[in-house]
Amino acid sequence: MKIKLKLSKIIEDALKNANIQADEIVISDATKPEFGDYQFNGVMKLAKVLKQNPRQIATVIVEHIDTTGMIAKVEVAGPGFINIWLNKLWLSQETTAILDDIRVGVGQVEVAQKVVVDYSGPNMAKQMHVGHLRSSIIGDTLSTLLEFLGEEVIRQNHIGDWGTQFGMLIAYLEEQNTDGNTQELKDLEQFYKDAKVRFDESEDFANKARDYVVKIQSGDEHCLRLWQSFIDASLGHCEDVYAKLNVNLTREDVRAESFYNDQLPQVIETLKEKGISRTSNGAECVFLEGDETPIIIQKGDGGYLYATTDLAALNFRDKVLKADRICYVVDARQAQHFKQVFTIAKQAAMVKEEVALEHIGFGTMMGQGGKPFKTREGGTPKLSDLLDEAILRAKDTIKERDVHSEAELNAVAKAIGIGAVKYADLSISRESNYIFNWDKMLSFEGNTSLYMQYAYARIQSIVRKHNAEITGDIVIADEVEHRLALLLLKFEDTLTKAAIEATPHTITSYLYDVVTVFMKFYELNPILKDDIEEEIKMSRLQLATLTASVIEKGLSILGIEVIEKI
Ligand code: ARG
Repeated sequence: MKIKLKLSKIIEDALKNANIQADEIVISDATKPEFGDYQFNGVMKLAKVLKQNPRQIATVIVEHIDTTGMIAKVEVAGPGFINIWLNKLWLSQETTAILDDIRVGVGQVEVAQKVVVDYSGPNMAKQMHVGHLRSSIIGDTLSTLLEFLGEEVIRQNHIGDWGTQFGMLIAYLEEQNTDGNTQELKDLEQFYKDAKVRFDESEDFANKARDYVVKIQSGDEHCLRLWQSFIDASLGHCEDVYAKLNVNLTREDVRAESFYNDQLPQVIETLKEKGISRTSNGAECVFLEGDETPIIIQKGDGGYLYATTDLAALNFRDKVLKADRICYVVDARQAQHFKQVFTIAKQAAMVKEEVALEHIGFGTMMGQGGKPFKTREGGTPKLSDLLDEAILRAKDTIKERDVHSEAELNAVAKAIGIGAVKYADLSISRESNYIFNWDKMLSFEGNTSLYMQYAYARIQSIVRKHNAEITGDIVIADEVEHRLALLLLKFEDTLTKAAIEATPHTITSYLYDVVTVFMKFYELNPILKDDIEEEIKMSRLQLATLTASVIEKGLSILGIEVIEKI
């Protein structure tokens, strides 16, 4: 339910009835419980326009606000805020109304936007690293979220599968006489290193590698076949990681850098024609206002660059995919690159003016002490090893609880371990760097996935103990129930905000609030005690199961599984 929209309509009506003109009405969450549930802060602005005292205007507005339905009480506060309290009866009705709703009260957009989400984007020559982990997790959540809200999402995995290093890898693949499915490629990092050693030690090998670059680029069949087998094997590694992570990327979502190859000359042509680029020191360059260095789009030897491919991709996403919004979930350190290609694409009309281009940047994941993330031995950790370790550690965390069979334990450990890694990543504001900390992410307390999974399991255990049908309405009886019900109804506003701002942590903070208030509610209002009136018991049970539904849906948008018992 869109609570803020409903409230702004009520305020709009009040203003109309009070004969006050206003253009946009913004409702915000109250910052403290004593300020009510919501606040209308727009009076100051109105007062300036009307040249009147804000408190006086606020008083007039308050007199005209309808307090017979959704709103219980309004009050003028401070220099001219209007504090708003919602009605318990209204909260009771609205929460009861969504008890059987699989979307837990969250509506869908009326007109779907086409949103391209570009995420993961690993480079085929190398192992996926922690930066790709963040991109995969954040991008996948954003995609799931937008889809849930009814948008049409087109996932694009812009893998790096083109470039001079592939000549070297193919030469090595051939030297090893392997078809890309054998042991050698199990460890890509090693394969790359070995190829590099050969490249550095043998002039013959290096020449062959250079030859291969030219051959791949000119479409030589034999080379392309070898190259393809390398990409297949490499992508297979990434897919193992996606599977472990519950990331929904398939081969269909891959539109690799190489896909744009034959569109690159056209990109250069367009930019030249429109006078956006010019030749400088032999290279084709774009000089953007305010930038110190030019953006090279074609090197002197004819080679193209990362930016050229991204321009072709922008053009494709506008003209062919017909995107309304394009989100790039890529390391914040590429901010400059995206700012530049977005500007050029719009200048050259490769992308329509009204298409939203967004770089969804994220910070760096770091090891203990804020140092670059390294294994104990000092190497770069492989993502799949990291995820396996998460599952092992999770197993350790719940081992002594002794509520699971061996088979269950594995499934539960996976849900907890992978959930912990994902949640830790999603719960910090995405632009910040963050420190990877096993103990913190696998804690039962605090803003962790385990805290949410535990609360969910706890509610399931209450329902199991009750062991009978749960019927009847929710009747909000006290302040803690009021807070819990209101939070549950805020689900749609929360998801909408997270989708607009592309901020998964908006969802995790919300879930943390929900669970924290639920725990308080459970402590103050016992559910299964014998001496509780049947109606109250049912209302509390209903509120608890609705909480569980919100936790489950919220976690599923984050790509995290719930657990029936912990
Ligand atoms: N392969 C790139 C990297 O590892 C990420 C690709 C991001 N997407 C894009 N359209 N540039 O840095």
